[in-house]
Amino acid sequence: VQILITGVTGQVGSAAVRRFAGLGAIIAADRATLDLSRPEEIGDTLDALRPDLIINPAAYTAVDRAEEEPDLAFLVNTAGPEALAKWSSAHDVPLVHLSTDYVFDGQGNAPWSEEASPQPLGVYGASKLAGEQAIRAAGGPHLIVRTSWVYSAQGANFLRTIARLARERTELRIVDDQVGAPSSAAFIVDALARIIEPRKDDLQGAFERAQGLVHLAAGGATSWYGFAQKIVEGLTQRSVPIVTQRIFPIPSAEYPTRAVRPLNSRLDLTRLREAFGVIPPSWQECLDAELNNLVAHERALQL
Ligand SMILES: NC(=O)c1ccc[n+]([C@@H]2O[C@H](COP(=O)([O-])OP(=O)(O)OC[C@H]3O[C@@H](n4cnc5c(N)ncnc54)[C@H](OP(=O)(O)O)[C@@H]3O)[C@@H](O)[C@H]2O)c1
Repeated sequence: VQILITGVTGQVGSAAVRRFAGLGAIIAADRATLDLSRPEEIGDTLDALRPDLIINPAAYTAVDRAEEEPDLAFLVNTAGPEALAKWSSAHDVPLVHLSTDYVFDGQGNAPWSEEASPQPLGVYGASKLAGEQAIRAAGGPHLIVRTSWVYSAQGANFLRTIARLARERTELRIVDDQVGAPSSAAFIVDALARIIEPRKDDLQGAFERAQGLVHLAAGGATSWYGFAQKIVEGLTQRSVPIVTQRIFPIPSAEYPTRAVRPLNSRLDLTRLREAFGVIPPSWQECLDAELNNLVAHERALQL
């Protein structure tokens, strides 16, 4: 089988190329191969590439910038995925599409189930939600996978930001009133492989049994402050020379950003367990594995 993976320069896309390598022939599509902001070209591109399975982690992910570039965000996150989904529907090729906890408004404390009504707070979330709706409307075999708080040892993400700040600043002030499950890209793609591999002979049926939508995140929940504390603790345990001595919790109101973020990003993982038998490790276990990668990567660069 030919597995097309988009966004291969990104966190999830690059991890997916590594994880899916043994499961088929990988077509690693960067932006030059398949540009989601040019939906009119996508059908011809897919005709030429002829994938048997499409995994789409590519997205416009700049949450704050999206407020100023709504047209581009909707092009990449809605019109592009819609074109993928129309081709997938016409050719009966399963489409696995990544989406986000930011489709929710973050009210309350309960984890969001797949049944909960989305109500995005910003352009990014709205563009991702419209992408989901377009994929569903195309009517092809699809699985929309909503995840949260993605990070990895490489790329631009919270883990890497804190690892840098911990070497530069004696004190950090980190938001404590947004709660979610930090999910490493490596864990996300491993879980995707565990969903897909055993069901590869009838992905359509498997996806339909999950109603085409599943929440996938690491187990447990914390705030960005709690996540930062664990990162700094983990770096210290691994003898990384850091200067941070204190971390202060602050409310979101003290860290204004252009886009408003949901306070409650907890995702209910019942369907992930019941439909696919995937039991996610805790976010702390995911972080431990990724800290090992981060430290090994940095030490290799210094050699
Ligand atoms: N990051 C998070 O915290 C988070 C949380 C929940 C859900 N998600 C979702 O999870 C998925 C993966 O996120 P990620 O963190 O891995 O993203 P990422 O690291 O920001 O990577 C995004 C990828 O999309 C590509 N891309 C952007 N515009 C494109 C275009 N016009 N055409 C083709 N490719 C384009 C980028 O390519 P370039 O390198 O060329 O820009 C990059 O490879 C996304 O669907 C995202 O919405 C992310």
